[in-house]
Amino acid sequence: MKKPLYVTKSFLPPLKEYVSHLENIWASGVLTNDGRYVKLLEAELRKLSGCKHALCVSNGTLALQIALKALDVTGEVITSPFSFIATTSSIMWENCKPVYADIDPETLNINPEKIVKKITRRTKAIMAVHVYGNPCNVTAINKIAKEHNLKVIYDASHAIGVHYKGRPLFSYGDIATTSFHATKIINTAEGGAVFTRSNKAAGELEFKRNFGYRNYVIHSLGINAKMSELNAALGYSSVKYLGKNLLKRKTAFLLYRKLLQDNPYISYQKFITGQNYSYFPVIFKTAAVKSKVISALNKNKIFPREYFSPSLELVFGNKVTCPVSFDISKRILCLPLSAHITKDEVTEVVRIVNKSCGI
Ligand SMILES: Cc1ncc(COP(=O)(O)O)c(C=O)c1O
Repeated sequence: MKKPLYVTKSFLPPLKEYVSHLENIWASGVLTNDGRYVKLLEAELRKLSGCKHALCVSNGTLALQIALKALDVTGEVITSPFSFIATTSSIMWENCKPVYADIDPETLNINPEKIVKKITRRTKAIMAVHVYGNPCNVTAINKIAKEHNLKVIYDASHAIGVHYKGRPLFSYGDIATTSFHATKIINTAEGGAVFTRSNKAAGELEFKRNFGYRNYVIHSLGINAKMSELNAALGYSSVKYLGKNLLKRKTAFLLYRKLLQDNPYISYQKFITGQNYSYFPVIFKTAAVKSKVISALNKNKIFPREYFSPSLELVFGNKVTCPVSFDISKRILCLPLSAHITKDEVTEVVRIVNKSCGI
């Protein structure tokens, strides 16, 4: 029987390597609370991010939440409607109000011109997303933030390994966050991290991550956002495979692009720099073509993902306020991509996509 092909497949390091770390953890008896593996992973993340401070946390959603708390953000946060729900839910969970600025139809990132139009007296921060690892217009966003005294948080959940203007993308903003969820290029099963170059923000993040505690003294309101040693060891054993994984993903990505080059029903996100091939999103000419493609793929046990859909202004509201994001979210589809996908699998996906488009 044919095996299902999902939108992605988690990368796992060789089991032997992970087990050798588990043996160390068993010997030490330390399972959490800033243990050896969290520290080892954080040292790797400092190198990867170019940031003085990289802190592991239990997931990418809490990373966003403690970033807002650490920067003392209240009131309105301008954000992208074209993202995973966690970008919005983290803002709402922190009792702030998400205000959506529409995206650029080519880069799929938040449009700085639309940000400016949404600024009010109550605006305190911008939470932008490097969508599929494509850098936001960080220069324009930084300028707007400076002019209006706003904090900038980048949801860089997709951005591992991406550099922009000679710097890792993780190093932009007051704080950047990432996710190490099982679906990400490097995963810790569940996990995430926060990055900052500011000592002050890092100090606050440390408190927030650990119940507001330091040395058993409560400093301020916190939460439990710590990463366990078991998760950290998984990340630590995986991080050295990042380069190889990026190459494998690139090969599959380029094969898709080649095999789909004559399909006039598909267009692509415009990348403004080198990318990490975190996803293979395609934008169909119409939502109807996309539906047809999904049905045909599903019949063949292939499960792409409508990521991101719906446009986030529609999750807790019913009015389309960001027409570009609304339109793209109806037509976007992420086809299967991972470090494991084979040439035959990519070829099969493309055959079905092209056939359902009548090619
Ligand atoms: C853009 C974006 N933001 C936030 C998250 C939340 O991360 P996590 O699942 O680790 O909580 C994700 C994860 O899928 C994401 O893709």
